[in-house]
Amino acid sequence: MPQILEGVPVRTQILNGLKPRVARLSRPPGLAVILVGDDPASGQYVRNKIRACAELGVHSEKLTPPASTTTEELLKAIETLNHRPEIDAILVQMPLPPHIASRKVLEAVAPDKDADGFHPVNVGHLVAGRPAPRACTPAGIIELLKYYRIPIDGRKAVVVGRSDIVGKPMALMLLAENATVTICHSRTANLAEECRAADILIAAIGKPALITADFIAPGATVIDVGISRISDAAEAERLGKAEDFAKNGTAWVGDVHPIGVRRVAAAYSPVPGGVGPLTIAMLMTNTVNLAERHLGVS
Ligand code: GUN
Repeated sequence: MPQILEGVPVRTQILNGLKPRVARLSRPPGLAVILVGDDPASGQYVRNKIRACAELGVHSEKLTPPASTTTEELLKAIETLNHRPEIDAILVQMPLPPHIASRKVLEAVAPDKDADGFHPVNVGHLVAGRPAPRACTPAGIIELLKYYRIPIDGRKAVVVGRSDIVGKPMALMLLAENATVTICHSRTANLAEECRAADILIAAIGKPALITADFIAPGATVIDVGISRISDAAEAERLGKAEDFAKNGTAWVGDVHPIGVRRVAAAYSPVPGGVGPLTIAMLMTNTVNLAERHLGVS
């Protein structure tokens, strides 16, 4: 059985490190969250983010324009937040409704208030190796690897998925830690073979249980990022999730086959229970970093 890389102890350590930094500031850090429409999953994510703010002593504000809002209205709301000195960080919950120009909206956030590190200026800082807000999920994965002392320097890392939120920034962060990085995606010719070359395999494609045992080199570290809901009892059973399914009428599965990975990997970060808790911890880290910069502390 592999070592299980759980996210909760890493989250606890990160948040404990932030508490004294928040206490030293002359005012609380401020985070504004924009949640467009009423997608239930996004609503839950945002509630979790707001709760984390309250627990850490971060001031938070939630804007909830309806799904019918326009790009122009969102740009105006962001412009107002950009000019408010007590707001250090702005987060636009993704995805936005299809009629909204998402890129335009993300680029309207002032780069020095970019809670998610999604602004091209901050992506550029990541490429250049300069300090800046970093995309939260991949930044959390780097913290997870370091917490469990998984060596990155000189290792082969394979990232499956090339999204702007996870895959691309993940590859850049691993590169910054001196990994030899391969990015795979839906058009990769021989995915299993590419994955088998990995010392560290990061799965972020959103295809339930795609990464089976034959994709994984014996002794590899496997980090599962994808999360999908299983609503079929037989499939839940096949994936070893019968107990979850019986209890909840549904089960969560990642991009990695949860039974197969346990046969070959040396270390495995599962779904749920792995990287999930770290995304919010890194959002809090970005927010505190920005507040310190705005208050001239760092
Ligand atoms: N939707 C899914 N993940 C994220 C994230 O990290 N930030 C934002 N803003 N939206 C998301």
